[in-house]
Amino acid sequence: MTTWIVNALYLDGEGEAPVRRHLKVENGKVAEWADGSTAVDTAGCEVIDAAGKLLTPGLIDMHVHLREPGFEHKETIASGTRSAAKGGFTTIACMPNTRPVTDTPDTVKFVRNKARSEGVVRVLPYAAITKNELGRELTDFAALKEAGAIGFTDDGVGVQSAQMMKQAMARARSLGLPIIAHCEDDSLVEGAAVTEGAFARRHGLKGIPNESEAIHVGRDILLAEATGVHYHVCHVSTEQSIRLIRLGKSVGVNVTAEVCPHHLVLSDEDIPDSMDANWKMNPPLRTPRDVEACVRALEDGTIDIIVTDHAPHSAEEKAKGLERAPFGIVGFETAFPLLYTKFVKTGRWTLGFLLRRMTCDPARVFGLNAGRLDVGAPADLVLIDLESEKEVDPGSFLSKGRNTPFAGWKLYGWPALTMVDGRVVWTEQSGIIEA
Ligand code: DOR
Ligand code: ZN
Ligand code: ZN
Repeated sequence: MTTWIVNALYLDGEGEAPVRRHLKVENGKVAEWADGSTAVDTAGCEVIDAAGKLLTPGLIDMHVHLREPGFEHKETIASGTRSAAKGGFTTIACMPNTRPVTDTPDTVKFVRNKARSEGVVRVLPYAAITKNELGRELTDFAALKEAGAIGFTDDGVGVQSAQMMKQAMARARSLGLPIIAHCEDDSLVEGAAVTEGAFARRHGLKGIPNESEAIHVGRDILLAEATGVHYHVCHVSTEQSIRLIRLGKSVGVNVTAEVCPHHLVLSDEDIPDSMDANWKMNPPLRTPRDVEACVRALEDGTIDIIVTDHAPHSAEEKAKGLERAPFGIVGFETAFPLLYTKFVKTGRWTLGFLLRRMTCDPARVFGLNAGRLDVGAPADLVLIDLESEKEVDPGSFLSKGRNTPFAGWKLYGWPALTMVDGRVVWTEQSGIIEA
């Protein structure tokens, strides 16, 4: 099948200003680009009139929780990938803190097969570093790689033992796969729900200190230097972690890092006094000083990419209140509009910069054939309406999770159409388009 997307404003992560273009998609691939001022012959083709919307490579999210197998009441591969498509994402990498934990080749294959049969975007599975994510015994890295795992992580918890982490890095290195680390020293956390800061003081709560994250970051950078592994830091949230990553990069350690939209736009001072658990995630919202450090680190390349850490939970679980509810917020359906509105609309970032950190940079960091729309590349793309303002309505999410602190926010930059492998999988008008 041949499709022409006409009258688009094209920009990818390598350009600075959008250009008017038409795009021909054939057999799932980018087939031809034409200048927007010329007319193209679309006879016999499907035609999508982009009508001046932004056309860009599909967004990539290297840190998401799809909850299947085991927590299907929170999310499934079907619902999570539909939510991703609606958010403009075409490639996502899912975390192994499922039930059972994704720590065997069979579970990796289960996730891949389910994604193929029921998913609507590309799903890349991570496998656990330790069995059951208990930090006691390493998984079989070679067999997990063979089954299709793209990297190793115990996300949800930190690997507490330095010796265990060092062995994991040595094995990952020998297989040419990265270690992706949720950095958290349990001995410093003590069951707290929010960061050490103004909110915790006001409510007399124990706080999660910045060092609980940064100690692991520093430890692991030294271990990555010793082993030569590609070491990727999850959801960076503190100024101290950033300092260490900057130092690691400056001496040539193969360290990369990610940051989440919520850590770029919210601080602990924004948490409402109602103690709403939709403001609870791990790592927690930090101080305004940490937020500014994260934004600057993303700007100067110390932090390489943006990820959502999409972490759906049921309404019942989140109703337990700030102290008892599980950590996590959903992210797919708000990420781009949020960052576009807060950083591009305000003039702090160019649109090209935001796109770079959500498309070609994640592809580069993880060696993916994605994030660009050269002729011959898979036609994974998104059309985005940069003009209309809409309110975040959790009731309209395709995710099963409604747990977001952004309900009611008025944002610009809403995806209008998502295409994966040359097939339109979602449009604003029709919703999900089943194959
Ligand atoms: O907020 C979070 N939610 N942080 C994590 O590390 C885990 C995740 C989850 O699985 O819900
Ligand atoms: Zn995590
Ligand atoms: Zn996570």
